Amino acid sequence: MKQIVILASGSGSNAENIITHFQNHPEIQVAAVLTNKKEAKVLERCDRLQVPAFYFNRTSFRDSDSVVKLLQGLSTDLVVLAGFLWKIPENMIAVYPNQIINIHPALLPKYGGKGMYGERVHEAVKENQETETGITIHYVNEQYDEGAIIFQAKTQVTPNDDANSIAEKVHQLEYEHFPQVIEKLLCNG
Ligand code: GAR
Repeated sequence: MKQIVILASGSGSNAENIITHFQNHPEIQVAAVLTNKKEAKVLERCDRLQVPAFYFNRTSFRDSDSVVKLLQGLSTDLVVLAGFLWKIPENMIAVYPNQIINIHPALLPKYGGKGMYGERVHEAVKENQETETGITIHYVNEQYDEGAIIFQAKTQVTPNDDANSIAEKVHQLEYEHFPQVIEKLLCNG
């Protein structure tokens, strides 16, 4: 069995979608969800879905190898960032080269970088009167949102859209594609 570990900081709707997608999969399973937020809604989802969840703080994440040890203990094959907002430390990237992926709610390299996440991205897309936006799934390196792109999908933005409706369209793309891309990476690579 290939093991996925999901890192999430917030609601965790993508985490839930990935968990349910792989629930009865013959080759892949979600071993655990890790979060840096004690109050994150993703923890309720894990409880309901009976997936192990672990919390870590900034010090253990950045200044120790305890999270890497946890990942190794879970026999992790792929680390999936699903709404996870901290930069990944170098020691983790060194242990998992090309085995950490992130989903970003825009068409990178547009609207990426530090501070560009969630609603802020969609507000910027609206403000700049973009006619399209989308999702980017990419490998994670030491810089925010700069690793090699694995997959992108687009959706149209109309003048009637606001940040909320853009977010909804983007979430739909995420739910449709993220599990499939993970499956391809783990089964073909
Ligand atoms: C997702 O739209 C994801 O693309 C975005 O956060 C949202 C999390 O939603 N990630 C980033 O902005 C990373 N820079 P969820 O918690 O409901 O899955």
